[in-house]
Amino acid sequence: MTAPLLLASNRGPLSFGEDARGDLVAQRGAGGLVSAVAGACAAGEALWVCAALSAADRRAVRYGQVPAGVQMLDLDPVTFDRAYNRVANATLWFVSHLLFDTATTPVFDSRTRREWAAYRAYGAAFTEALAEAASPGAAVLVQDYHLALTPRQLRERRPDLRIGHFSHTPWAPPEYFCLLPDEIAQEVLLGMLGADAVGFHSRRWAEAFARCCVDVLGADLSGDVLTHEGHRTRVSVHPLGIDRAELQQRAAQPDVQGRLPLLREQVGGCQLILRIDRTELSKNIVRGLEAYRELLRIQPQWRRKVVHLAFAYPSRHDLPEYRAYTGEVQRVAREVNEEFALDGWLPVQLEVRDDYPRSLAAYTLADVLLVNPLRDGMNLVAKEGPVLSARGVSLVLSRQAGAADELGADAHLVNPYDVVQTAQALHDALSTPPAQRAERSARLAAAATALPPQAWLDAQLAALPPG
Ligand code: F6P
Repeated sequence: MTAPLLLASNRGPLSFGEDARGDLVAQRGAGGLVSAVAGACAAGEALWVCAALSAADRRAVRYGQVPAGVQMLDLDPVTFDRAYNRVANATLWFVSHLLFDTATTPVFDSRTRREWAAYRAYGAAFTEALAEAASPGAAVLVQDYHLALTPRQLRERRPDLRIGHFSHTPWAPPEYFCLLPDEIAQEVLLGMLGADAVGFHSRRWAEAFARCCVDVLGADLSGDVLTHEGHRTRVSVHPLGIDRAELQQRAAQPDVQGRLPLLREQVGGCQLILRIDRTELSKNIVRGLEAYRELLRIQPQWRRKVVHLAFAYPSRHDLPEYRAYTGEVQRVAREVNEEFALDGWLPVQLEVRDDYPRSLAAYTLADVLLVNPLRDGMNLVAKEGPVLSARGVSLVLSRQAGAADELGADAHLVNPYDVVQTAQALHDALSTPPAQRAERSARLAAAATALPPQAWLDAQLAALPPG
């Protein structure tokens, strides 16, 4: 059977774990996109192609336990490691988020070229699966930097398909993008221009991509259409938002409500500054803690009056840079407590265990939400917080997050590198009168829900040529 709508992403809509007896247990991914597409997948109208990410996922593939509507690719582990860890996460992610410490990194050598060959093979495995499963003229929505090469590969294999590519990351300006070896930079751009439409969360990232295509490939840009080698690619902006009803229903579940008493105890009678992130270099957690330390130093009236809950969940621990960063986050949190803790008051409470219901519960209690990434494609934490806040939340937001485009007017915007400015923004956010805070928070929630996942998906489809 073939499908008229296909989605492709590295991480799929579900993953497998094992219970105490070693039996496979499927877990659905959190987030509105999964809900938006799950129904169509189950009804056989859509197919989601993704990679098997763990040993349990691989077992599920081998024992035929992956449900209809999802195809998990059991890729060679060495190819997967090189493509996912080395190329996608340690190279392309670092380029799009400007994360290299350029005095010493990156160094592109012959190992880079071997890893690049694996990235190509990984993309080709997706291409093959999509080409086999797509019905004539089907729409194929390819997601993210893991799969930059797939649109072109797929167009060569199946010219009848209508192909979109969406980047959930920022895009680097040409002078930074060109750190990549020339042939790799060209292949990435050519790969994406194989699509009929490429999408981004922010106009800033869309414009940076278009500039790269013009500068590196000599593509022609006219309005929002890039033309290269006779093929036209539309560049569009679809800022993903939140499904308010779905998120609120999830937050009303007993597992979320049951987390509230302990959280209230942790916060005591203080105001709560909350952050929720994957422990990811671009999230800038260390400078967030530094800014909080600065606040307690220069505005001592907040001592004993405020608690900072920092949820920093594990991410990409196969990369040494990420393991080192986690250590740094823990070290700075410890230092702040050593400097300021008093009897009955622990200023920073860092939680590194992933607990989604606890995160949702914490949103409802937060007075201030700190979202200070160095650079971020969108950042849905900044959008979820105002939607779930009970009394209204003040948002301290990095101007480098895609979400700043829509939320900037009612947030306290900061330069994420400036911890003095961020400390001042925390002070202003804590000091905002309740009525003003509630009004701003309501406007933030309205902006955050402007393009919920189903509408976002429809917008991507509408950007493709008609079927
Ligand atoms: O947050 C941006 C993003 O690119 C998401 O689209 C994607 O799911 C994620 O990062 C990739 O993270 P991971 O390596 O944990 O799958």
